[in-house]
Amino acid sequence: METTLVLIKPGGVSRNLIGEITGRIEARGLKVTGLKLINAERATVEAHYAEHSERPFFKDVCDYLVSGPIVALAVSGTNATKAIRAMMGATNPIEATPGTVRGDLALTIDDNLVHSSSDPEAAAAELKLWFPEGTV
Ligand code: PPS
Repeated sequence: METTLVLIKPGGVSRNLIGEITGRIEARGLKVTGLKLINAERATVEAHYAEHSERPFFKDVCDYLVSGPIVALAVSGTNATKAIRAMMGATNPIEATPGTVRGDLALTIDDNLVHSSSDPEAAAAELKLWFPEGTV
């Protein structure tokens, strides 16, 4: 059993895709063990993307994440991190396979709808950041 983090970004929330994305996760057999709709603090977003702080898109991606409400989900199940990454599709939606969230619902990298943890170590750190109170 593993727990991983998914963020539904402002574009996903404004397009009313919370149910679509969460439904796919649940239909796969994974459990939602944490869920909140929030206006993220800039400091939290900057900490989340800290490893990319020197990259040219850092300011843009942080601006985007604080531009509107987001949903933070903790998702648990066998190999949850790997399963979720595969379901979300390639980071750049134009390279994402049809059948994935990004391959079906997104077109550009600056609005790629979701974030998902890259590996179990990243998931543990990200869950601490977004769910400091813990999950259920
Ligand atoms: S990954 O999945 O971490 O290997 O992807 P990576 O290419 O390293 O990108 C890290 C995150 O930065 C976002 N990103 C961008 N945002 C806006 N504009 C541009 N050009 C851009 N390039 C990369 C990318 O979506 C990753 O964030 P998440 O939230 O994981 O999707």
